[in-house]
Amino acid sequence: MEQILQQIAIYQADIAAAQATDANALEEFRIKYLGTKGIVKVVMGQMKDVPNEQKREFGQILNAFKELAEQKYDDLKLQAQAAPAQAQANTPDFSLPGHPLHMGSLHPLTIIRNKMVDIFKRLGFAVAEGPEIEDDWHNFGALNLPPNHPARDMQDTFYISQNPDWLLRTHTSNVQIREMMKGKLPLRVVMPGRVYRNETISARAHCFFHQIEGLAIAENISFADLKQTLYFYVREMFGQDVKIRFRPSYFPFTEPSAEMDISCLICGGKGCNVCKHSGWVEILGCGMVHPNVLTNCGIDANKYTGFAFGMGIERVAMLKYQVKDLRLFSENDVRFLRQFAGAV
Ligand code: DAH
Repeated sequence: MEQILQQIAIYQADIAAAQATDANALEEFRIKYLGTKGIVKVVMGQMKDVPNEQKREFGQILNAFKELAEQKYDDLKLQAQAAPAQAQANTPDFSLPGHPLHMGSLHPLTIIRNKMVDIFKRLGFAVAEGPEIEDDWHNFGALNLPPNHPARDMQDTFYISQNPDWLLRTHTSNVQIREMMKGKLPLRVVMPGRVYRNETISARAHCFFHQIEGLAIAENISFADLKQTLYFYVREMFGQDVKIRFRPSYFPFTEPSAEMDISCLICGGKGCNVCKHSGWVEILGCGMVHPNVLTNCGIDANKYTGFAFGMGIERVAMLKYQVKDLRLFSENDVRFLRQFAGAV
């Protein structure tokens, strides 16, 4: 009798401590205590051995034990049902949409450069690049700017202090020379790249910027080919309604030389700050390749002619995206750069 009561006390403690973390644990508890061969049944079976005078008291204890086990089972059932929800709260739900990733975007100058290059590619131009650290001959001499030529002052040059024959190229025209020196004609190529000039940095000028150079050399190339090529470029780049004008100009490496203006994209030609109230913006320099340049590159200037052009990329990006300050392109401010996300 004493023994049974002690045993019941142990079971009671065990029941109190029972946890049902999931359906399996719940079922285990049920089988252990309430099953057909469960502890409650076994304990109840002891009744027959209890002396008659104690049956009443003992019966109450056993009934209370049975109720305890049943009550606990009901509690555990509720607990087990709630468990999956709780577990879910603690583990990630992989079906939820993720936090949006910030996709990188192309730099606006890259976007514009790609657009420009693509237009010329459609006209059959190849693409080439050349070095940014250049020697005097490729950047100046071969382009018909011998030492002490006054036109060298048109571009403020960064020289490499260890060797004054080396410099940071002031334009992409150096790649013209490198392409012509390869000796493969005819030639039709555009040459994008970064160039450097010793200029004070401001909203309108920088010590480095980007250009695209163009060059076509063949027999019988004329100024008409140059104009037609550039007309096509402008219409593709800026639309059919943009007006174009050529002005005579001077570059040592072209003869004749011209500059090309387009009607201002900001004010449509009416006059504004961007076009300095003229209605026009200059977008490139061009001309027929000077015979001296052809000769310098080993090309027979009596047989071959060619045209060349060079244009800034920043200027076009500023017009297209209405960027007022050139410095934004090189400051890497993500608030600026993110605005071009998704653009191609
Ligand atoms: N290299 C000139 C500059 O940076 C631009 C230029 C003008 C390039 C006329 C050319 C050209 O190829 O024919 O100002």
